[in-house]
Amino acid sequence: MAEASQPIVSVIPDDEGKEKFKKSDHVAFYRRQMEGPNFQHRALLDTMVLTEKGARFKLLEPDTQTTLLLSVSPCKNDTVRILIDELQPIKARYRVPDVITEEPHVEQLRVERQSKDSVTLSWSSGRHQVCVWHFPFRLEILCEDKAMVTFNAKGKLWLEALQDPPGATSRGSELQEDHTSVLWKETFRQFVDIQANGPSSIGADLCLHGFSHVYGLPEHADGLQLRDTRDGEPYRLYNLDVFAYDLYSRLGLYGSVPLLVAHKPDRTLGVFWLNASETFVNVHYSPSDHQDGQTPPVKRRRVEPQTDVHWLSESGVIDCVVLLGPSPQQLFTQYAQLTGYQALPPLFALGYHQCRWNYDDEADVKAVDAGFDRHGIPYDVIWLDIEHTDGKRYFTWDSALFPEPAGLQRHLEKKKRKLVVISDPHIKVDPDWLLYCEARDGRHFVKNRQGQIYQGSCWPGESSYLDFSSSDTRAWYSRCFGLDKYKGSTPSLFVWNDMNEPSVFDGPEQTMPKDAVHYGGWEHRELHNLYGFYQHMATVEGLITRSGGLERPFVLSRSFFAGSQRLGAIWTGDNVASWEYLRISIPMLLSLSVAGIVFCGADVGGFVQDPEPELLVRWYQAGALQPFFRGHSAKETKRREPWLFGEEVTAAIRTVIQQRYCLLPYWYTVFHQAHTSGLPPLRPLWVEFPREQSTLTVDNQYMIGGALLACPVTEAGVEEVKVLMPGSGEVWYDVHSAKAYNGGRTLSLPVTLDTVPVFQRGGSVVCRSAGSGSCTAELQQLPLSITVALNSQLTGSCTWTTAIPSATVTTRPSACAGSPCCQAVCSAVLPVKEEEEEERLTALPLYSQSPSWE
Ligand code: GLC
Repeated sequence: MAEASQPIVSVIPDDEGKEKFKKSDHVAFYRRQMEGPNFQHRALLDTMVLTEKGARFKLLEPDTQTTLLLSVSPCKNDTVRILIDELQPIKARYRVPDVITEEPHVEQLRVERQSKDSVTLSWSSGRHQVCVWHFPFRLEILCEDKAMVTFNAKGKLWLEALQDPPGATSRGSELQEDHTSVLWKETFRQFVDIQANGPSSIGADLCLHGFSHVYGLPEHADGLQLRDTRDGEPYRLYNLDVFAYDLYSRLGLYGSVPLLVAHKPDRTLGVFWLNASETFVNVHYSPSDHQDGQTPPVKRRRVEPQTDVHWLSESGVIDCVVLLGPSPQQLFTQYAQLTGYQALPPLFALGYHQCRWNYDDEADVKAVDAGFDRHGIPYDVIWLDIEHTDGKRYFTWDSALFPEPAGLQRHLEKKKRKLVVISDPHIKVDPDWLLYCEARDGRHFVKNRQGQIYQGSCWPGESSYLDFSSSDTRAWYSRCFGLDKYKGSTPSLFVWNDMNEPSVFDGPEQTMPKDAVHYGGWEHRELHNLYGFYQHMATVEGLITRSGGLERPFVLSRSFFAGSQRLGAIWTGDNVASWEYLRISIPMLLSLSVAGIVFCGADVGGFVQDPEPELLVRWYQAGALQPFFRGHSAKETKRREPWLFGEEVTAAIRTVIQQRYCLLPYWYTVFHQAHTSGLPPLRPLWVEFPREQSTLTVDNQYMIGGALLACPVTEAGVEEVKVLMPGSGEVWYDVHSAKAYNGGRTLSLPVTLDTVPVFQRGGSVVCRSAGSGSCTAELQQLPLSITVALNSQLTGSCTWTTAIPSATVTTRPSACAGSPCCQAVCSAVLPVKEEEEEERLTALPLYSQSPSWE
């Protein structure tokens, strides 16, 4: 069968390209909720039951005679879970499995106050309270008697009760093909979606008191701070394959994390909306510019700001966890306790990765590998895209181009380098291929609504899609990575999961129809946003099993959901080689980081089109300061290995990759922190300077861990950049010149093509390798140096972590303590004379530590 190619797309999508994706007004459940009435829910306070799982109430909506069940569970780690389902649904509604890692420990509730209008419950110290109001129903979460969050403040609570299909004679009757009720059928372009359960959408609003800055909700190609959505589209969370995506758009991209993080100087809080169906989020800030325009500023009363957040999902139940912080650090830990900590990557995964679609054959791979050595540029991993396979049959090799894949891996492994190969979720329909037959006979494919194996088109042409939501299918897929089964693979081969939104070239919005059917009879609409997460999970399990549970895996996935941090890395998909895309990569990665997806990166150089040399250099400089660092380019692009643009460019790229390698002890340490405390390696400035107003909107600068401030240059031809040095009273040291700057101001700094503005915070200690080596294995043989940057009190301190490559798999921080994978080594404080003054700190005091990584 002829191979399919991706549907026609232009770099800047044309009108036809744009129509491929829905706007909110194309979506029936969104319209129903936005145009529908506000329901008049009442909390029946006399139905309250207190159990060890929290409090339960019935909610009644008199007009529709719907009764809902509300459960409120305050947990020991200062989170409050709010769950609302139908009291007696005609069948179970979908509840997202496998994302929450363990049920949090629920607090014992007691009644603090009660009247006919409301009941106030408190727990442990009594600092926090929950107040449930009878009518109109709302639920307040208070801290020391002050409301922090009000659930249903605007009365948007919405839950469409499941009904029997129109014309059905008994419960459970099959939905007839010919029924025409608009509520059970939706059309977009030529695609018809038959909704087996009819309308089942949910929604709710939360008011965040005192907040005027909210973040998170990836993945969108937009700034870090979420915008007021009144002047445009809501944020959409629906995993889609969007080639050369539009910038500053709220269209959903490849992955979704329904976590919104709000910050004000004295509190950070989060709202986690656990739902995997298509979701929209409206954000309204008030007082907002919209209203402010009306009144003359002088007459305006000082109103406490608030942010209203309205969540709307196509199906499932209302399952919402409010994380109370109050510090950013506590918030990140609360979220990690709920959905898991970042997997500790093997050290090589933090090195530089060289990819392109495609390296042509074994000789090409060896030549590129040798090129890195010839030009003295360190790297750890070379990647093979879809063309390495036999006709896009994953787990196979093109025998003409890659006749000796194991030999190729051994060749790389001699230099302690790795190979990554792609493995997508679609399987070519080919009855002569054993893997296809196994999947078909093992019932591992998603079905269509008629009960046959679903088929759609992707790279191999006609394909079927593995149903990773089934644990049996995941176990089968995991076994496919066994060294005995995956011919030509060796332990130094790692994996890249792509197209797993899933991408279906001839499907609605280029994805799987929502009425496709998964294991357990669940419609695809229920779990669409989990599809990539589950493939990632199965692949990771495969690699762990392959090594007998001994080695940490490395798997990159394009699609993700909350919890994907437990599995590995993600990247921001098909970006473009332009300055705008370089700039947007920073807020995109920061948004991912605050939402727990911390091992993230963007294709260095831009995937589509050819970067000019200056852009390529600037992109390497930025990428070297981001967690996942991979150069990648599309098939039609010109070759762009770092040495192809003349010595000046080669030297500039060599320098930043070497600097990345020197800094790997520090990167590894901040990843260990993410693994044990949930703190992201890449941090918006407000995370480290929570009380500073000036940091709240900065999204071209960020902190790497707590010690380094990065401000990559992302403009063409500039000779100067502006850098906000946060924190009055802080001292910042240029890591290259050791020049000291006082914090609390914005500086204009001169830059040349070689300049990468990075500053070390006074009071911190950064551990580096004394050299870069040719890859991370070699790096570990080199001495370490530590740089102590004194603060205005003339001290510096930190702890750091040593690395052992590919060591024991650790999934929980507690399991990690004492194991060889990570050892907190020591803290360092440089004794200084009291009388030394800040002004005299013009050079970085340095002292060296004896060589050792182990
Ligand atoms: C998708 C990926 C891209 C990959 C290509 C071919 O477009 O996003 O990274 O190179 O598919 O596999």
